[in-house]
Amino acid sequence: MSRFCCIALVLGAALPACVMKLTRLKNDPVDFVRSVKPVLEANCLECHQDRYEFAGLNLETKEQAMKGGRSGPVIVPGAPHQSRLYKVLLLGHDNPVAMPPTPERLDRENEQTLHDWILQGAQWPEGVRLAPPQD
Ligand code: HEC
Repeated sequence: MSRFCCIALVLGAALPACVMKLTRLKNDPVDFVRSVKPVLEANCLECHQDRYEFAGLNLETKEQAMKGGRSGPVIVPGAPHQSRLYKVLLLGHDNPVAMPPTPERLDRENEQTLHDWILQGAQWPEGVRLAPPQD
């Protein structure tokens, strides 16, 4: 009996979290122009663009971004944890490939936005071009 209770408790706690997450993803698709573009422009375009193409990676257009960098594609639609563009955000700053290469990581919320965008298929509307921050 007590073991049953234990299992029921664990399931009871885990299920709602699961359902909530799915509901949020389903009802709240990430809008590239509104949510992803500003994060990439503010944090990444400075070094990954036509003039400064660090590591061969240019994020100005969809075609360039999907082509990836010197190690190949960095976005695997549907699979954030196989996407270098997302994985480099999670590296500790003792790692030279942690991005952005400043001591501060992206905000959790922005990391999550990039994660969900890739998970949902990395939609990038035709013709939308990213621009480096103006200085
Ligand atoms: C200040 C410049 C700078 C900024 C800002 C920057 N990067 Fe980088 N990025 C680099 C450099 C330099 C490398 C090469 C690092 C190395 O291998 O030593 C690199 C490498 C990468 C790579 C690996 C590419 C490959 O094919 O090996 C990815 C992915 C990447 N950056 C993504 C990002 C993302 C995403 C952001 C924004 C969150 C970002 N970068 C911001 C300079 C920058």
